[in-house]
Amino acid sequence: KPYVIGIDVGGTNTVVGIVDKRGQILKSDSIKTGKHSQVEDYLDELSDLIDDLIAGTTTKDQIKGIGAGTPNGNYFTGSIEFAPNLPWKGVIPFAQLLEDRVGIPVALTNDANAAAIGEMTYGAARGMKDFIVITLGTGVGSGIVVNGQLVYGHDGFAGELGHVIMRRHNGRLCGCGRTGCLEAYSSATGLARTAREYLELKPDIQTRLRNIPADDITSKDVFDAAMAGDEMAKDIFKFTGEMLGEAFADFVAFSSPEAIILFGGLSKAGNLIMDPIRESMERNMLPIFRNKVKLMFSDLKESDAAVLGASALGWEVRN
Ligand code: BGC
Ligand code: NA
Ligand code: ZN
Repeated sequence: KPYVIGIDVGGTNTVVGIVDKRGQILKSDSIKTGKHSQVEDYLDELSDLIDDLIAGTTTKDQIKGIGAGTPNGNYFTGSIEFAPNLPWKGVIPFAQLLEDRVGIPVALTNDANAAAIGEMTYGAARGMKDFIVITLGTGVGSGIVVNGQLVYGHDGFAGELGHVIMRRHNGRLCGCGRTGCLEAYSSATGLARTAREYLELKPDIQTRLRNIPADDITSKDVFDAAMAGDEMAKDIFKFTGEMLGEAFADFVAFSSPEAIILFGGLSKAGNLIMDPIRESMERNMLPIFRNKVKLMFSDLKESDAAVLGASALGWEVRN
């Protein structure tokens, strides 16, 4: 039986799955992305994992292709270029390097694009022709589908919506080297930055977040505090969501999507993040778009959308 392999390269974890024709993930496992400062060491560990997964499931000749979704991935060139949230700098011919190691053809796309393909084929976007997937993890990414097709653009990098500038003055430094990007505020790490900022700017406000050393605070800590009723933690989610809503209001004007689908770590915060997004998006949108755009969470299991979407590329890789 033929299979493909899907790989989701995240800022923190890399998830690999063996997938069949029906989109069932037969077997999957993960490694830490950030552990290796050299991409060669990472690729060694990744190809070992791929070999192990194959050995436990099928034979190599049954694997028709590998698809990978990566931050700053370029579908046209198969390379990862200048990724702010990966340890490897510059231009990395990722698809070729992996292919050389495992001997199976590899296709690559942006991680959020992979999630969009996953949602379109197996998830919340089935039957939709125009939608945007937004990933809220270590970074903020997007996959834009127009007329049933992923938008790649002239160079292959279309949809870097995490780096639209939300603050023209005194904006936070972003991993991309510029200031004021959406990602610097509304990623999981951006939310933790907001927490540190609030703690400093509001020394008189009581919050359980003060029990954690400021440098160690994660989005999960803020989530737990908010769930326990902590007002500052709830405000932090409100600030994060409102900024996302402002940005989404503009994204809607670009491509008039039927839906915006949220995916990735922060989307686990449910209404804590969704309510302020919805309110702010509606308030900031052009009147012609109001109350029309669906805002939803991915209905695929965590990381499955990206692994499945990436795997779909595996069927198309030319030898
Ligand atoms: C990158 C995107 C990526 C996103 C999520 C951003 O920093 O620029 O390419 O999709 O992070 O990983
Ligand atoms: Na994209
Ligand atoms: Zn940026």
